[in-house]
Amino acid sequence: MPILKVARMGHPVLREKAREIAPEGLGSPELAGFIDDLIETMQEYAGVGLAAPQVHEGLRLFVMQTDPDDEATLRVAVNPKLTALGAEGWEDWEGCLSIPDIHGRVPRNNRVRLEALDAEGRAYSEELEGFAARVCQHEYDHLDGLIFIDRMRDFSTLCFGEEYRRYHAPRPKEG
Ligand code: NI
Repeated sequence: MPILKVARMGHPVLREKAREIAPEGLGSPELAGFIDDLIETMQEYAGVGLAAPQVHEGLRLFVMQTDPDDEATLRVAVNPKLTALGAEGWEDWEGCLSIPDIHGRVPRNNRVRLEALDAEGRAYSEELEGFAARVCQHEYDHLDGLIFIDRMRDFSTLCFGEEYRRYHAPRPKEG
């Protein structure tokens, strides 16, 4: 299966609102194949999440895996709906495969409900907290043409990867 090319900041596809996947496409072999490629691409680049627009497909679909060593943390979200449940304004570091080598602190809600379809088109609903909630909000934003920098309220934390690792965190996480 191919590793897909990741769109970088500046590519218009990252700024467009993605479209819902039509009912006839749900659970199709084509969609399943694309989801497999999306997962493989996320894993290849050591990301914790990847949204379809990031690989030049304007579809409302993302994958996330908050622990690369634990397949149980893998989620596929087709036509997702996100509801904020917790407190807003929880800040932590984020990165993005479409904004290579840049990190910044982003305020997010600490708890969300994710309602979506899985790769087979089955509906599920799950509450996510903390880092998983953060990744989910980051990926969901990609479906609306938003990148994490849009959510920052203070650009003084923007930094390059080397400085991030040196001064701020031991382990980069990108989505
Ligand atoms: Ni991202």
